[in-house]
Amino acid sequence: MALNTKVFDNGILYQGDALAVLQNLASGQVDAILTDPPYSSGGLHAGARCADPTHKYQASSTKRTYPALLGDCKDQRSFTMWATLWLSECWRLAKPGAPALVFSDWRQLPVMTDAIQAAGFEWRGIVVWHKPSARPMMGSFKRDAEFVVYGVKTPAKTFTRRCFPGVYTHRVNSAAKVHLTSKPVGLLVDLLAVAPDDSTVLDPFMGGGSTALACLETGRRFVGVELSPDYVNLAGDRIAEAELARPRT
Ligand SMILES: C[S@@+](CC[C@H](N)C(=O)[O-])C[C@H]1O[C@@H](n2cnc3c(N)ncnc32)[C@H](O)[C@@H]1O
Repeated sequence: MALNTKVFDNGILYQGDALAVLQNLASGQVDAILTDPPYSSGGLHAGARCADPTHKYQASSTKRTYPALLGDCKDQRSFTMWATLWLSECWRLAKPGAPALVFSDWRQLPVMTDAIQAAGFEWRGIVVWHKPSARPMMGSFKRDAEFVVYGVKTPAKTFTRRCFPGVYTHRVNSAAKVHLTSKPVGLLVDLLAVAPDDSTVLDPFMGGGSTALACLETGRRFVGVELSPDYVNLAGDRIAEAELARPRT
C-alpha cells in the first residue's frame, strides 16, 4: 500500500485511515501512544449521536467553524470493536513498557477502558482533564472534565521517579484552536512526562497536530495519522511553523 505522507524534522504524518495505515507499519517501533480519537459521543440515540459534531461538541452561541471532524458516528458496539482494532495495532507497534494515553468523554469512558484492555494493554488508571471553560448545564452537573484512559504494554517500566497528579486543569484557548476538539498542547506536554524522554510517540488521530507540537516542545518524535486531508494540511502547517520557530542548537 502506498502511503501518503508528510515528513518533518521530528516526525512523520500519514494521511489515511488509522487502521489501514497502522497495519502497514512495522511492530515495536514506538515508545508511547497519546491519542484523542473521535468519541462518537454526544447523544442517547442514533439520531443525536450522528448529528453534526459542531452541534454535539460546541455551544450553539459559538460561531467559529472548522473543517469536518470525520468518523464520529458509530453506535456503541461498533465503536467498541473499532477502538479494540486500532488499539490492538497500537499495542503491536508499541515497545514493551510503552504507556498508552487515550482521551475519552464520560459517555465513552466505560467502553474505552474495555477496548484498551481487549487490545492487550494493562489498564493502569484514569487521568482527569479539568477544563474550567466548559459550558454550564442547567439543572445538572457541569461537564467540565474529559478523561485519559491510561494503560501500559507489559511488562510495565518506570521512566521517571517523579509523581504526577491525577487531575490536570488546562483551559481551552479558543483563539489558538484549529480543530473543533483541539486539546491544549500544554496538557499533552504534561501527559507525555510519563513517557521516556527521548521517545517516539504514536497518535493515530492527529487532528490539528497538537500531539506533534507537544512532542516538538519536549524533544520527542512523533508518528501521526489523520484521515482528513484538510487537517493533514492544517497540522502540517502548524508543525512546520513550530519547527522553524524552534531554537537551533
Ligand atoms: C478528536 S479529533 C483529534 C483532535 C486533536 N487531538 C487536536 O488537538 O487537534 C479526532 C481526529 O481523528 C480524525 N479521524 C476520524 N476517523 C479517522 C480514521 N479512521 N483514521 C484517522 N483519523 C481519523 C478526525 O478527522 C479528527 O481530526
